[in-house]
Amino acid sequence: MNPFLDGNACVFGLQWGDEGKGKIVDYLAEDAQVVVRYCGGANAGHTVRLGEKKYSTHLLPVGIFRPGIMNLIGNGVVLDPEAIISEIDEFTGKGFPITPDNLRISYKAHVVMPYHKIEDGARETKAQDRSIGTTRRGIGPTYADKMHRMSAIRVSDLVDDDRLKAKLDAIVEERNSWFGHMYGLPPLNVDELFAQYRQYGARLKPYVDDTSAILIQGYKANKRILFEGAHAVLLDVDHGTYPYVTSSSCSALGIYTGAGAPPQVCRNFIGIMKAYTTRVGGGPFPTEQDNEIGNYIRERGNEYGTTTRRPRRCGWFDAVAARYSCDLCGVTAVAVTLLDVLTGLDEIKVCTGYKRGGKQVDGFIADMGLLADVEPIYESLPGWKEDLTNIRRFEDLPENAKNYVLRLEQLVGAPIRMVSVAPERNATLLR
Ligand code: GDP
Ligand code: IMO
Ligand code: MG
Repeated sequence: MNPFLDGNACVFGLQWGDEGKGKIVDYLAEDAQVVVRYCGGANAGHTVRLGEKKYSTHLLPVGIFRPGIMNLIGNGVVLDPEAIISEIDEFTGKGFPITPDNLRISYKAHVVMPYHKIEDGARETKAQDRSIGTTRRGIGPTYADKMHRMSAIRVSDLVDDDRLKAKLDAIVEERNSWFGHMYGLPPLNVDELFAQYRQYGARLKPYVDDTSAILIQGYKANKRILFEGAHAVLLDVDHGTYPYVTSSSCSALGIYTGAGAPPQVCRNFIGIMKAYTTRVGGGPFPTEQDNEIGNYIRERGNEYGTTTRRPRRCGWFDAVAARYSCDLCGVTAVAVTLLDVLTGLDEIKVCTGYKRGGKQVDGFIADMGLLADVEPIYESLPGWKEDLTNIRRFEDLPENAKNYVLRLEQLVGAPIRMVSVAPERNATLLR
């Protein structure tokens, strides 16, 4: 059995997302019995490469690619019924059948409705140059309604016609009045909305369950559980670069509330970080390289969004940010991904500290105003020219690539146990 799963494991991003969580979860899932998503929604895009084929999931846990795994969508997720039904059909059609035997959805999860997506888009458009650069998947408005309570729809409402009708009648009336007033939008038709969403509810009903109870039972029966983080620590609504974050608790700290399990449930906290940094959307990014270095990384790493296809902003590895994430989440093992992308550079820079107003600052500042005007302090390391994609043992990496990884380990203060050199499952070197 994979030692990373002894005591269960949480895999999550240490930067601003797209670190290769999908690849690492799929790799570790070989030995898992339960895979659970605990945050976010269809704003995530997790890629798994199997041979020549590339698959992207948005809501489905990547445990679907291996037989015999129970995949759970936890209460902390916001569920877009249209998106999940389309993923169920897509993957069933591609030879990965999704049935209640391998997928359960929490009755406590909140439902993304069309008016959430409309609101997300309208707010972003109205904000112009202050916009967050969201995925426009309705994520923020759905979590806001969850907190408002009376205007929220949970999965348990979606699958009950009477409750859904009563909720929609009240919500749509209110929404129509402020959508028209604030954004000049046409009114929503409550009957059409009800007719469509009751059908989605009927289709999803067989999957709806108490996922927290399933998880706790599994934990008590010593099943091997893998928590699949979405987004990343620096996009966490509390601990990320607020307000340029997503709206969920997407660091490892979110697993207990988002999946509904006791703190003892997980002993391995596996932080994933790219060998460089990327970010999609707005917000501060001290090591961004809006130049030929950034373009080199973007093209070699195919750094275009899995969900929105937007070009990702690219830059040098930021060890201050990654160390903050490791410390916050008690990382027990780090996986460095996309090391192969850096091949060919003469010199590779790493940010080891920040300066503000000429003075060195201590640690990471998760505050947009302060982080926006820091100046990175760089250390320069020699690059390598060899192609890494066919290497399968850490020892066989070029000396400069090995030294680069070892230096990152010192800087982030957590052990690097995995190095990924290509998208395929087996291109994962263990240390
Ligand atoms: P996630 O959101 O963290 O699951 O990451 P994404 O799937 O959005 O983006 C990561 C991208 O990098 C995907 O296209 C992966 O197939 C790819 N990838 C993962 N690991 C490696 C690697 O080691 N090398 C290369 N070249 N690509 C990788
Ligand atoms: P995975 O799981 C990268 C970013 C968006 C935007 C901000 C808020 O694939 O790593 P939202 O639509 O969530 O309200 O947008 O968060 N964002 C991500 N960036 N990877 C992700 O997920 C992301 N999920 C959200 O680009 O800047
Ligand atoms: Mg992604």
